[in-house]
Amino acid sequence: MSQNIVDEAILSRRSIRAFTAQPVTKEVVAELLAVASRAPSGTNTQPWKVYVLQGASRTELADKVCAVHDATRQDPTLAAKYQEEYDYYPQKWVSPYIDRRRENGWSLYGLLGIGKADKDKMHAQHQRNYRFFDAPVGLMFTMDRVMGRGSLVDFGMFLQNFMVAARGRGLDTCPQAAWNGFAKIIMPHIGATPDEMLVCGMALGYADQSALVNTLTTPRVPVEQFTNWLD
Ligand SMILES: Cc1cc2nc3c(=O)[nH]c(=O)nc-3n(C[C@H](O)[C@H](O)[C@H](O)COP(=O)(O)O)c2cc1C
Repeated sequence: MSQNIVDEAILSRRSIRAFTAQPVTKEVVAELLAVASRAPSGTNTQPWKVYVLQGASRTELADKVCAVHDATRQDPTLAAKYQEEYDYYPQKWVSPYIDRRRENGWSLYGLLGIGKADKDKMHAQHQRNYRFFDAPVGLMFTMDRVMGRGSLVDFGMFLQNFMVAARGRGLDTCPQAAWNGFAKIIMPHIGATPDEMLVCGMALGYADQSALVNTLTTPRVPVEQFTNWLD
């Protein structure tokens, strides 16, 4: 396949789950957001709202959510209090999506040597999400509830722009729906209004090149399998 710098940036993006402590300046984050905001959106509605968490605001949110994540494990009835604000995943999983999801989970846990029975390790690995995988910058993305499903399409383009622009500057990311169930804690913490809905979170920073977890590469279905050519 012939490649150019745009392809290179896209193809080098992977979800990174271990970051170094190397800081990212506010200026760089602002630049990434400006580039991302060139994403197209239906009638130029630009539905994205962004909260950038660094320093104490990032650590305090992580502490709050980790505490609730632990408490929910002790008392699963608490989970009912923490619901996602929109269905990111289907209510009922079917093939081939459930198979891909399982494969994804087991490749990650397999790589880390976490077996099905290692519930403590699994919980701890999952909880790494709520520390933004130690990335110095955490982002929360919200949009107005009044907006339609199409705005989520627009939002996806904004998020991808952001992640690809990050690659262009040697930075890495992990988009995170893991936060979505904890909107009740996150929204007041970041100062979002009740009109807003949490779309997802994201970790941003420099990849820890020595971390085993970052060696994960995910497969893709070949073009012929998801494309119908109509002549
Ligand atoms: C919107 C969105 C939310 C995601 N949420 C999480 C998450 O909470 N935690 C996580 O470790 N990975 C998360 N991922 C990463 C996916 O698992 C990953 O994109 C997928 O396995 C493909 O791997 P790649 O990103 O390395 O190409 C998310 C991805 C997207 C697009």
